Amino acid sequence: MAFNPRKFIGEQTSKIKETVGSEANAVIGASGGVDSTTAAVLAHRALGAKLHAVFVDTGFMREREAENTAAVFRELDIKLEVVRAGDEFFAALKGVTEPEAKRKIIGERFIRVFEREAKRSHAEFLFQGTIAPDWIESGAGTRDRIKSHHNVGGLPEKMGLRLVEPLRDLYKDEVRLVARELGVPPAIFNRQPFPGPGLAVRVLGELSPERVAVCRRACAIAEEEIEAGAGRGEFERPWQYFAVLLPVRSVGVQGDARSYKETVVVRAVSCADAMTAQPSRFPPEFLERLSARIANELKDKINRVVFDCTFKPPGTIEWE
Ligand code: XMP
Repeated sequence: MAFNPRKFIGEQTSKIKETVGSEANAVIGASGGVDSTTAAVLAHRALGAKLHAVFVDTGFMREREAENTAAVFRELDIKLEVVRAGDEFFAALKGVTEPEAKRKIIGERFIRVFEREAKRSHAEFLFQGTIAPDWIESGAGTRDRIKSHHNVGGLPEKMGLRLVEPLRDLYKDEVRLVARELGVPPAIFNRQPFPGPGLAVRVLGELSPERVAVCRRACAIAEEEIEAGAGRGEFERPWQYFAVLLPVRSVGVQGDARSYKETVVVRAVSCADAMTAQPSRFPPEFLERLSARIANELKDKINRVVFDCTFKPPGTIEWE
């Protein structure tokens, strides 16, 4: 039977009211992505002002993410608090390079920030926008753990809050239908997915504010160019498209001088449900323009741009 977003919203709203009761408060981490925004609007429908929405700026967000998210929540009439926590995330991750260790630390730190916020708002419940691929790939049941998805991995056993995940049985396209039905603006529900740990899984090696800034800028350029190219009809808009910064330095030439700098990867894929994916097919002229712009705007930091043409499997969409 086809998925019915209206029915889903009705059922979930009642279920949330039942679970949380009429007295308790709840907190949700809103990242500005489609999953958490949808979960927040759904929870807000059921709980009204008892829902406390918090945007944690981990230091791994995309360009203008906090400002844009605040504007969307204002439009939705949901109060949003922005917490700047970048320093504590970078401090906790100092010297850490192993992908699973990074994910665990980020997940745990996130929960700590939340616990603080939850205490301030006297919340007993934590809402999360976890969707089906998040927990399937985090090793539920008999499946191997591919990666600890942020919404799932790293949750300390005793976090002192009861977890509610209203979207956990949905796939991305179903979440988008729910979002549209709930009046979430198209800028959000048409947005490409963005992982919970943010740019941290796109900056391989040690995380520093400087290296994350390079990835942030490269991601912004990739988004802008790819959306413009798709808008001009040069190719179909991919499912997901972004840049990755590698800690791999190579020799280049800039002006008359030798350079030895890190590498940016452009990743763009099409897929139906994020379980498998195909590399996007871009015209060569487009790839040239994109690579030239990234290399030029970031010439002080990187000297090489490569395109990732790996299918999932064997690659995953994100690099960590
Ligand atoms: P992978 O990289 O596993 O990603 O092929 C599949 C989809 O999930 C996104 N992703 C995440 N989403 N929390 C999330 O909410 C996470 O920790 C996380 N890690 C990956 C990824 O961007 C892709 O859309």
